[in-house]
Amino acid sequence: MNENLKLEDIVSLAKRRGFVYQGSDVYGGLSGTWDYGPLGVSLKRNIMNLWWSMFVDERDDMYGVDAAILMNQKVWQASGHVDTFTDPLVECSNCKGRFRADKLDNPNKCPGCGKEGTFGEARAFNMMFKTNVGPVADESSISYLRPETAQGIFTNYKNVVDNFYPDLPFGIAQMGKAFRNEISPRDFVFRAREFEQMEIEYFVHPDKWEEAFEHWVAKCKEWFEALGLPASSVHELEVPEDDRAHYSKRTIDFEFDYPIGREELMGLAYRTDFDLRNIERVSKKSMEYQVKGTNEKFVPHVIEPSFGVERALMAVLVSAYREDEQNGEKRIYLALPEHLAPVKYAVSPLLKNKPELVEKAREVYKKLAKQNPGRVMWDDNGNIGKRYRRQDEIGTPYCVVIDFQTLEDDTVTVRERDTTVQKRLQTDELTTKQ
Ligand code: GAP
Repeated sequence: MNENLKLEDIVSLAKRRGFVYQGSDVYGGLSGTWDYGPLGVSLKRNIMNLWWSMFVDERDDMYGVDAAILMNQKVWQASGHVDTFTDPLVECSNCKGRFRADKLDNPNKCPGCGKEGTFGEARAFNMMFKTNVGPVADESSISYLRPETAQGIFTNYKNVVDNFYPDLPFGIAQMGKAFRNEISPRDFVFRAREFEQMEIEYFVHPDKWEEAFEHWVAKCKEWFEALGLPASSVHELEVPEDDRAHYSKRTIDFEFDYPIGREELMGLAYRTDFDLRNIERVSKKSMEYQVKGTNEKFVPHVIEPSFGVERALMAVLVSAYREDEQNGEKRIYLALPEHLAPVKYAVSPLLKNKPELVEKAREVYKKLAKQNPGRVMWDDNGNIGKRYRRQDEIGTPYCVVIDFQTLEDDTVTVRERDTTVQKRLQTDELTTKQ
C-alpha cells in the first residue's frame, strides 16, 4: 500500500471521478452528509451485495430483514440508547465552538479559536436524532432516526423464530441507513451523521458464545480478503472493559491503516442476552427459545459482527489506490478487485469519426452489456490515451478497443489495467478469457 497516500488524494479522486460528493454541495454542503455519484453508487452496491451473498445467501443459518428506520421510542428506552448513547461535549466560552472532549489533541486548548482554559465541564450529549411521528408533537409521538440497524433485528427476533423455527445457532442480518448526530463529523465518510451499516445478530446457546465469537473472527477476515484489503493493514484490537459499549462483555475492533491513522473499520461484540432481556422487561413478552424436542428453554445470547459500509468503502479505495509511471507520465489507477469495480469493461471505437468503427463498437458494447448488466461503459471521449487514464482512475479492469482489424477478423484489443498489457481476443472470447 502507498505509505504517502493522503486522505485528500482519495477525496479528490472520489469527487473528480463521480464517486462521492459533499451532501447538499450546491448550497454550501451539510456537515456530516455525503452523496454518492454514479460510480460511488455502483461501488457501494457491489460491496453491500457481496456482503449479503457471503453472509446471508450462501449460508443456511441466516435470515434477512429490512426493518423500518423509525421505531417505537420504547425500543431506544429499552436498549439503553435514550440514557447512555452519548458522547462527552465541551463548549468554548470564548468562541462558543462545541467539541467532542475525548477527541481533542489538547484537552485545554480550543481547536476553534486557539484559546486555552476556556472549556467548562464536559456534558453528555445524546447522539440520536429526535423527531415526532404524526401531526401532534408531544411526549408520546417522540421517535428517533435509528442510530444502529441492530435494534430492528432484535425486535424481529421473535417473528423469525415463530415463522421459521430455526435451530440454534442462527443469525438475522440487516443492512441500511443509520443516523448519529456526531459532535464532530470528520475525515470524509469515516465519521458521518448519516451512514450505512451491515449488521448480524447471531443467536447462540449461552454456553457456546466463545466458539461462535471465534467463528465470526474468521468470517470477518474472509470478508476483508474479499474486499481486497491487505492482511498487513488490518489489526485486531481487544477492547478493554472501560471502553466497551454498555451492552458488551467482549469486543474486538478490527482497525485499518487509513491515511488518517489506524482507526476502527468494524466491530465484533458479545452482547450477551442484554437486548432480548430488555425487550422482555419492557414489552412483557417472553423472548425464550425452546430447543426442539426438549423442554429446555432459555434466552439466547448474541454475537454481533457490525460492519460500516462507508468505512469498508474507504478502506477499499485506500487499498486500491496506486501511482506509477507510464511513458514518462505519472499515472493514478485503482487496482480494485474485479468483482467490486463499478465498471468491468470500457468499450471504445479507436476513432469516433469513422462510422464503420463506431457501428462495430456499438455492437460489441451491446453484447457485453447484456452479459454484464450495469458493468459496461461506452467511452469515446478524447483520444485513446486519455480514455485509458480515465478508466484507470475509476478502476476499470479491461478497456476494449475496436479498430480496423476488428472489421476484418472480429478481434479486439483488450488492455489490462494494472499491467497495461494489451492482447488481441476474438469478441466472443471477451467474457471468458480475462
Ligand atoms: N450495533 C453496534 C454498533 O452500532 P458501533 O461500533 O457503534 O456498533 C458499528 O458501529 C460500525 O458502524 C462501526 O465499526 C463503523 O464501521 C460504523 N460507524 C459507526 N459510526 C459511524 C459514523 N459516524 N460514520 C460512519 N460509520 C460509522
